[in-house]
Amino acid sequence: MNGMNARTCWVTGAGGLIGSALMASRGLPRGWVAVGLGRRMLDLADAGAVAARFREERPDAVIHCAAMSRTGDCQRDPGAARVSNVEVTRGLAGLFEGKPMVFLSTDLVFDGEGAPYGEGARTNPLMVYGETKVEAERVVLEDPGHLVVRTSINHGRSPTGDRGFNEEMERAWATGRRLDLFVDEYRCPIGAEVTARALWRLLEVGATGIVHVAGAQRLSRWEIGRLVAGGDARREALIGEASVRAHVGMRRPADTTLDIRRAQGLMGFELPGYEEWLRGRR
Ligand SMILES: NC(=O)c1ccc[n+]([C@@H]2O[C@H](COP(=O)([O-])OP(=O)(O)OC[C@H]3O[C@@H](n4cnc5c(N)ncnc54)[C@H](OP(=O)(O)O)[C@@H]3O)[C@@H](O)[C@H]2O)c1
Repeated sequence: MNGMNARTCWVTGAGGLIGSALMASRGLPRGWVAVGLGRRMLDLADAGAVAARFREERPDAVIHCAAMSRTGDCQRDPGAARVSNVEVTRGLAGLFEGKPMVFLSTDLVFDGEGAPYGEGARTNPLMVYGETKVEAERVVLEDPGHLVVRTSINHGRSPTGDRGFNEEMERAWATGRRLDLFVDEYRCPIGAEVTARALWRLLEVGATGIVHVAGAQRLSRWEIGRLVAGGDARREALIGEASVRAHVGMRRPADTTLDIRRAQGLMGFELPGYEEWLRGRR
């Protein structure tokens, strides 16, 4: 494909875990060029600067990964979370009206009482992060051509080294810190490279509405920790058992298992379970 005729897709949050995986992915559809936007290049909260860049580059689509993505940060500063997660998204949704937009949302829009969750299930977030994502989803879906992708916890190597759940665990173990992991809180972990491949494919097939993209295997936090430890006895000795029922602080959904059948049907390929994916990389 001649570069002159290629369509351009902005990738926001390109300095983050999933954004950087998108930029490195071999799944970029033919005929598309990805333009990664990191915070140092463009502050997305500066609506004037975003609009100016949009007018200059005339991108054809956007995969919007930038966010205040840590639940604790959002809980501590709900105002900033709304700006990052809702207002920035509203601005982009306006600019990309009538063009493909893929918005990254989360399994934490659910309260954990009704798993497995299909795309049409009732949302009921338990924390500020999930609330901002529900609000942003509504804004994005006002355009019937836009897509919301809800994902679960992602495993990968982020440019800052502190965004993948595996990176958080590895940092703790490196300093000898013990991790007490919930034996009764369930997630569907997925490799960020798999999420990236799925996002490019969903853009390619023109998916709209809501799609769930997560690992095919439901695992407890404790099981996930053991898998990340990978049989290393020193790491395993630093994993303790905890119960979400005894947890004090921000409420946490106990089981956010996502039904991924719509994604698999649209994409034409299977999403692997976490263990299967890990086995494939070792
Ligand atoms: N990773 C997961 O497990 C997971 C699970 C469910 C949903 N998601 C969602 O998927 C998306 C991508 O997640 P991720 O893990 O890749 O997040 P991430 O690693 O935290 O990356 C987000 C990036 O967005 C940037 N950003 C935030 N506000 C910005 C702004 N105003 N202007 C420019 N850049 C800005 C951040 O920069 P700073 O670091 O400088 O703030 C960061 O580089 C997010 O929407 C997240 O909520 C992720």
